[in-house]
Amino acid sequence: METNRRSFLVAAGASAIISGASALEAQSEKPIRLAIIGTGYRAWAHLAILQSLPGFQVVALADPTPENLDRAATLAPGAKTYADYRKLLAERHDIDAVVVITPSFLHAEVTVAAFERGLPVLCEKPMATTIDDANLMIEASRKSGKLLYIGFQKRLVPATNKMRDLVAAGEIGKIEFVSGNLFRGDWNPKSWKYKNPKTGIATNWRYLTYTEGSALLEDGVHEIDCANWMIDDRVVRVTASGGNNVYKDRETVDHVAAIVEYASGVKLSFELCLFAANAGPSSRRLVVIGSEGVMYPENGKIAIRKHGGGGVRYVDVVDDTPKSVVGKAVGSAQDPETYKQYQLFAQSLRLGKPPLVGPESAKTTVKIILLAEKSLREHRVLNWNDLPA
Ligand SMILES: NC(=O)c1ccc[n+]([C@@H]2O[C@H](COP(=O)([O-])OP(=O)(O)OC[C@H]3O[C@@H](n4cnc5c(N)ncnc54)[C@H](O)[C@@H]3O)[C@@H](O)[C@H]2O)c1
Repeated sequence: METNRRSFLVAAGASAIISGASALEAQSEKPIRLAIIGTGYRAWAHLAILQSLPGFQVVALADPTPENLDRAATLAPGAKTYADYRKLLAERHDIDAVVVITPSFLHAEVTVAAFERGLPVLCEKPMATTIDDANLMIEASRKSGKLLYIGFQKRLVPATNKMRDLVAAGEIGKIEFVSGNLFRGDWNPKSWKYKNPKTGIATNWRYLTYTEGSALLEDGVHEIDCANWMIDDRVVRVTASGGNNVYKDRETVDHVAAIVEYASGVKLSFELCLFAANAGPSSRRLVVIGSEGVMYPENGKIAIRKHGGGGVRYVDVVDDTPKSVVGKAVGSAQDPETYKQYQLFAQSLRLGKPPLVGPESAKTTVKIILLAEKSLREHRVLNWNDLPA
């Protein structure tokens, strides 16, 4: 796995790297010119954040849905719009990097096309919906020699980032068990609709296994990525149970309980539920249990409780994102983390720093989730080698 020494070193320095970024932006001569491919809800959040980053200029947008493209254009004045991303890639020779924000099943196709044009890519999570697609993306990146950064921005949520640093510093000893959950409401009913070429039926892309891959790949994927990043060990087995208790109108499940087993014996237990729109404080939880204590975020701080007693110690979390940036966030993403992700992406492009989230660690997260999906469909425990490498 790539979630090892190198990503640890990169992560350990993540706050320092980020705080150096404004100096970098100030001294850089020209903004990085971006093409954004896929301009739906998530892209609008990107575009709102990009308005606060003078190191970037969005010069082109591509999307086949005119109303989504028009809305994106209002957030990127001066950008030229395209209905077909292939025309954009063929026509434009003034682009420095491509950002892929299409429905997940198209990530590989668009990313590979960008690499074939010799352009580096920031691709939204999940990296892909199949292992084969993830491998195609890695191979195309290698062949072109260009950067592939996967958009797991939640690693940069200040509390999560702080927890990762504290765990890595041994504050609760060695990790033994991690428990997490995401309880939320249903997918956006206004998501783009995939039209099946055989039947002509158009369906919300988040309802179909072919287009979404797995419900966990769409959400819960961030938490699993962050937990896996903290655990930093080799996965040996995955098991999951799930189904459709409430939303019976779709292929993808509405609840999952998954267990990931690591070589050292550490377990990650994770639950996703999509019919809990108002779950309050229990809606998002991440608890790390170590050999010496327990750690979890609480009221904007990190709580640490040692097994031997002595009460709770709270560690402050500093969020240095300018308030003007958070104010600009749109949609559900109140989003210091996307801002920080672009700062890191700029540093990878300008200074050649390895990405905080490289393709190998993003592929590991895809594989964990595809194993969980297969396990819940086949009602059996799966080994790591039950899916291709
Ligand atoms: N990092 C995060 O927190 C986060 C949050 C939400 C979504 N996402 C990811 O972002 C991606 C998009 O999600 P969304 O919520 O914006 O979905 P959406 O349905 O709102 O938008 C998808 C857009 O892609 C466009 N599209 C479809 N086919 C295309 C093609 N061939 N070329 C270009 N554009 C095409 C659609 O017209 C639509 O505008 C998904 O991969 C999703 O998993 C990430």
